[in-house]
Amino acid sequence: MTSIILNAQEFAVNDGETVLDTLLRNRVAIPYGCRAGACQACLMMSDGEIPDDCQLGLSQERIQEGYFLSCQCEPEQTMQLQFPALSQEKHLATVVEKTQLNPRTLRLRLSCRLRWRAGQYITLWINDRTARCYSIASVASLHNFIELHIRIYPTGAVSPYLLNAIEIGEQLAIQGPYGECVYDPKQAQQALLLIAAGTGLAPLLGLAQDALSQGHGSAVHLLFSVKRHKDFYGISELQILQQQYANFHVTLACDEAVATLTPPPELPATASYSAVLHRDFAQLRGTKVYICGGDDFVQRAQKQCFMQGASRRDIICEAFINFSPSEA
Ligand code: FES
Repeated sequence: MTSIILNAQEFAVNDGETVLDTLLRNRVAIPYGCRAGACQACLMMSDGEIPDDCQLGLSQERIQEGYFLSCQCEPEQTMQLQFPALSQEKHLATVVEKTQLNPRTLRLRLSCRLRWRAGQYITLWINDRTARCYSIASVASLHNFIELHIRIYPTGAVSPYLLNAIEIGEQLAIQGPYGECVYDPKQAQQALLLIAAGTGLAPLLGLAQDALSQGHGSAVHLLFSVKRHKDFYGISELQILQQQYANFHVTLACDEAVATLTPPPELPATASYSAVLHRDFAQLRGTKVYICGGDDFVQRAQKQCFMQGASRRDIICEAFINFSPSEA
């Protein structure tokens, strides 16, 4: 059995346990968020041997300094650990707008001196120990705020706090940005298909606006899918973009049975995303596809796009972390 040593205290690591799991089991206060290697909230340092796969996504500088993600690290031998000073990593962001868009979605706009690319994500902290990742829906060259679309989980630890407790003018710490789900101007002549489920709209709305404002030379299709019609949001914003750019097209898709619906009259959703993909995008060879949403959705849509001709390197995926309702 291996062990980890932190502040001169030794903790035994159970089989298959990560450093984060071991510390939490021993009631050590350690910050964390996604537990999936994305948010970097659980960073720790070690000056000994570090398993390779717990440094994925970190900069070379960070890797050389001995940083690693504790939620991804299953120690192979005894490790001496320390907490890094992360204060220089965090930026203070002021809440400048807070709007509930539908029963399940909160839009937060934050003012912050941060450089980002539309489609990237940030880690947002609500206290020293609890953080979550959210994708950015705004474009730095067009907007002076960072826009986040937050899925509301009524019994969660973070979203109810953001919905009910945070006020305009308050400050939150953010970290990042991270991620590669961004527009590449080198592909300005390639058709884009953006497939979003739920709040997966956030990064793809940002990416679409980025591409269109840079004069993307081919079609940009956004396929926005939800489970129930009342989960749609941002429709008027999408319509405005459609009016503004002749090469921007939106299709709504919904899993709910059509007979029971009151679809948004302007853009009625008449089928599931899978049926729309078959119907309207039967041949995806040469199209650049971006897919954002929950893990299952992303996997299914990715497979279908590949079967319909998109090459693997032309499919960019951003799967949201699947927090349990009690954690999100
Ligand atoms: S990267 Fe470890 S908790 Fe998010």
